[in-house]
Amino acid sequence: MQELNQIKPLSLERNATNELVLAGIKVSELAQHYGTPAYLLCEQTIRARAQAYRQAFEQEYPNHLVVYASKALNCLAMCKLIEQEGLGLDVVSEGELHTAIEASFPCERIIFHGNNKSRDEVKLALTNGVTLVLDNRTELAYIEELLKSDPELKAQVLIRITPGIECHTHDYIKTGKIDSKFGFNLEELDEIIERIKATDIHIRGLHAHIGSQIFETIPHKDTCKVLLELYKSIKEKHGLEFEDLNVGGGLGIMYTESDDPPEIFDWVKIITDAVKANCEELEVKQPRIMVEPGRSIVGPAGITVYKVGNIKDIPGVRKYVAVDGGMADNARPIMYQAEYTAEVDAKDPTTNLEKVTIAGKYCESGDVLIPEIELPQVEAGNLIVVYSTGAYNYSMASNYNRATKPSLVLVNKGQSHIIVQAETVDDLLRNDKLAPHLR
Ligand SMILES: Cc1ncc(COP(=O)(O)O)c(C=O)c1O
Repeated sequence: MQELNQIKPLSLERNATNELVLAGIKVSELAQHYGTPAYLLCEQTIRARAQAYRQAFEQEYPNHLVVYASKALNCLAMCKLIEQEGLGLDVVSEGELHTAIEASFPCERIIFHGNNKSRDEVKLALTNGVTLVLDNRTELAYIEELLKSDPELKAQVLIRITPGIECHTHDYIKTGKIDSKFGFNLEELDEIIERIKATDIHIRGLHAHIGSQIFETIPHKDTCKVLLELYKSIKEKHGLEFEDLNVGGGLGIMYTESDDPPEIFDWVKIITDAVKANCEELEVKQPRIMVEPGRSIVGPAGITVYKVGNIKDIPGVRKYVAVDGGMADNARPIMYQAEYTAEVDAKDPTTNLEKVTIAGKYCESGDVLIPEIELPQVEAGNLIVVYSTGAYNYSMASNYNRATKPSLVLVNKGQSHIIVQAETVDDLLRNDKLAPHLR
């Protein structure tokens, strides 16, 4: 299996004059053509990572469905790519589902998440044959009501539970923690299953998601065990044998050299081995395994290219290098103190280095993309590339300070295509209205 763990997209290179080249096109040309900042996506990396999941499962456990968590990045082109790679799609809102439907994504491969789905969202899912990840009693009541009002309608669900396992990067907490806004607590499960048994709703299985950007493998192994023990007790108590088992997403990626997530293949093997071993021990029929990776499919495929503007040197304190984007296009540093790696285009990355802070342009002191990084000396007009921005960057982008969202550009084999147009100020103003007394 190909080793895929790296900070940069697979097609990124530096040429003899130190220019960054993505899939055969100079990043400076892409910046010139699409403006800065711009999100650039390497198609080869997305496909390779999707294929790595598929191939690992084909080898280890053919009865599977890899469901791309589209909250990481959802747009028509992403849905098409994921569909072509044979994955399923996880959506969490009307907007994400509509995009998938518009992209003709097969609805039988879509699952719909959310802790507060509206009645309309539930209806949209059911009328399109989308599987719901049943999260709570309110949603269950919507489904019951919708099935009563339309006898033609069918409902399939995975029941989301909080398994008492929580994990973020290296922080693994197994506390039996029940303080989560998502899903049912284990104590409620028997009652919920009895209630569903009295309806025509089909329960496909259970779902748990334990966190994101996870480097440890034991938490997912433990999650498989907790879920399969429930499968055994549900079979005994309720006479139900589930066909699906969804262990969520969460595999981490490299944002910096010190990040060391498992390779996709190794992560898949941990899960499939755990499922096989627990099924054998507990005498439970092997279910279809579903996983929901988001970040680990699209994260390393993305880079953001910025132009350097003002440079503020405070001698003995700090040198700020301000770029023409920031927290509006990448909310992760200010939200989670997320770390990133950056490089300067057309400069030798090993000489003339100095420690700087890459600052955003938005009106928050905290709008800093990278607090401390060694970069070759830069001047206004240079291009800085921030790596691993494919996941949760465009999808979390905001219009803070009335910023317009940058273009999203797909790059492959010497070709580049806009897949989401940059917003313009007119796009923002289109939604503004003056109240009559202000005209
Ligand atoms: C239910 C669920 N599944 C999958 C994911 C995807 O996680 P990741 O992008 O870390 O793989 C998330 C992320 O928050 C999630 O909440």
